[in-house]
Amino acid sequence: MIIKTDAELEGMKAASHVVARVLKKMKDYVEIGMTTKEIDDYGGKLLAEMGGKSAPFVEYKFPGFTCISVNNEACHGVPSTKKVLKNGDLINIDVSANVDGYYGDNGCSFVLGEDVQNLQPLVDASHEILTKAIANIKPKVKINEIGHLIHSEAKKRGFNVIRNICGHGIGRKLHEEPSEIACWKDRMNRQRFRVNSVIAVETFISTKAKFVYEASDGWTLKTKDGSFVAQHEHTMIVRDGIPEILTWENGI
Ligand code: CO
Ligand code: CO
Repeated sequence: MIIKTDAELEGMKAASHVVARVLKKMKDYVEIGMTTKEIDDYGGKLLAEMGGKSAPFVEYKFPGFTCISVNNEACHGVPSTKKVLKNGDLINIDVSANVDGYYGDNGCSFVLGEDVQNLQPLVDASHEILTKAIANIKPKVKINEIGHLIHSEAKKRGFNVIRNICGHGIGRKLHEEPSEIACWKDRMNRQRFRVNSVIAVETFISTKAKFVYEASDGWTLKTKDGSFVAQHEHTMIVRDGIPEILTWENGI
């Protein structure tokens, strides 16, 4: 969406406020021994209380309110009563919702308990690289230049990026134009960032793998080689100067 009216601005702010608050509360709620279904049920309750409808559930009939991906799952992890969280697990929670017709989207990865798998450097890289990418987004900058930045920053830290999942435009739908804000330099993408457009920028930083594949549940996207993937995501408006982050309340 390109923001043209105050109503659109207020709508996008309200939706982003809801998803950011829900993400923060879910992250604070997680404890060792919980199932991903318990965490998702809590998220679903919060969304309902705050007037949000789960975007994946409404738009894609996803079997859950939020996506909770663990270890070598990169995204779209299906909440399950069988998935019990352990000390040292790498967890990603991604919350996206429709509030009064507008969408907000955000996500973050973190290590649960003690870092027994030594994944904090991956999580820190994902977070730092998102911050750096956002600082470089300006009107007329090529989208693939930001992809290049994300990829080169990942390589500097000894990590890789996932090529087949990406950030996106957002607004009246969860996924709008620009349809692909990749984490690598996609030379086929000639689009540039546009002033007042709303985008969801997300990192997919991996310990090794370049691609993710659909698991047998038909939803979860995971690496085949057991690589770990960390993601951080904000919804923002492209402005002259630096972008205006709408999901800042998630605290990431
Ligand atoms: Co998301
Ligand atoms: Co997104």
